[in-house]
Amino acid sequence: MNAWEIRTDGGIDALAATERVRPEPAARELVVRVHAVSLNYRDLLHVLGYADRDRWPLVPCSDGAGEVVAVGREVTRFRVGDRVAGAFFQGWNAGPITAEVMETALGGRLQGMLAQYAVLAEDGAMKVLPDWSFEQAATLPCAALTAWNALVTQGRLAAGETVLALGTGGVSLFALQIAKLHGARVILTSSSDAKLERARALGADDTINYVSHPDWEKRVLELTGGRGVDHVVEVGGAGTLEKSCLAARHGGSVWLIGVLTGFQATINPLQVLQKSLRVQGIYVGSAGMFRAMSAAFGANRLEPVIDRVFAFKDAPDAFRAMQAAGHFGKLVVRVD
Ligand SMILES: NC(=O)c1ccc[n+]([C@@H]2O[C@H](COP(=O)([O-])OP(=O)(O)OC[C@H]3O[C@@H](n4cnc5c(N)ncnc54)[C@H](OP(=O)(O)O)[C@@H]3O)[C@@H](O)[C@H]2O)c1
Repeated sequence: MNAWEIRTDGGIDALAATERVRPEPAARELVVRVHAVSLNYRDLLHVLGYADRDRWPLVPCSDGAGEVVAVGREVTRFRVGDRVAGAFFQGWNAGPITAEVMETALGGRLQGMLAQYAVLAEDGAMKVLPDWSFEQAATLPCAALTAWNALVTQGRLAAGETVLALGTGGVSLFALQIAKLHGARVILTSSSDAKLERARALGADDTINYVSHPDWEKRVLELTGGRGVDHVVEVGGAGTLEKSCLAARHGGSVWLIGVLTGFQATINPLQVLQKSLRVQGIYVGSAGMFRAMSAAFGANRLEPVIDRVFAFKDAPDAFRAMQAAGHFGKLVVRVD
């Protein structure tokens, strides 16, 4: 089968198109003919040298969807022909995250989805909604579930609350859509006025250009009458964390998700404790959360925002597009 591999820390140009042996399922596994893969910033980081070297050569990417072509002898919930997406963590069905769960990430400790065939655990496969394309289904496992876990599972988002989403990448646009699904108000930032216009069309109530307004946290406070927001979907990391804490209300939640601007942040602990902020790390989510999210998306006809679909042979260009950050929503690779 054809696959892409990370073999060195040479970056996007060193991604290798290769032939691999088509996998066979173990007793409680499925083999899936992958039809679409979506990229996450984490996959780009892996290609740029952050993947675990002991896994090289590594097929990158956590998020893919396709058709079951073989099932192990103990599999009871899936049949050949079923349309499925893989869960980011193959070993996290329910309950809290554990160190063992962390060893089961697709395209991380386990081989990923950017290949014609992939192996999934029975508990790590999710049925795709009947009227969804493989491209749409492939956008859900990481970005959508992370936003869902933060705002819904952990955050218990209520109608009328206010959510702040940073930028217009995969996680942030799903956060916008999930927040609107729950009747929340959304304030969204972007470096681009054109993207802000598109975000308003998707339902964003207020928007801020964080380049022309570098003190965007002050604007957030103005927009909330000085109170601050109930939830911040914090994808920026080092460069935005302090501002996100300033933009949150007393007793509000800052969902620590991303590192788009770097890893080493300085933060005044007084700022967190005096406002009684809940600053909580989120790491994607479980298969149980995925099923709840998928049902909600289906019932509400939520459509993932796909910026562009690339051919399999052009997968490196998809990573280049992610690095250039011109995208709005998700970048997808069709695996033909
Ligand atoms: N913890 C988890 O489980 C988890 C899961 C998924 C993702 N993540 C992390 O979350 C982050 C986002 O991931 P993604 O896949 O959504 O990335 P993405 O699609 O590549 O998002 C890129 C966008 O982020 C925005 N951005 C960049 N710098 C910003 C800044 N200083 N302030 C506000 N927005 C900024 C830009 O939006 P504009 O062009 O609109 O300015 C950019 O286009 C990454 O760090 C990723 O590793 C974590």
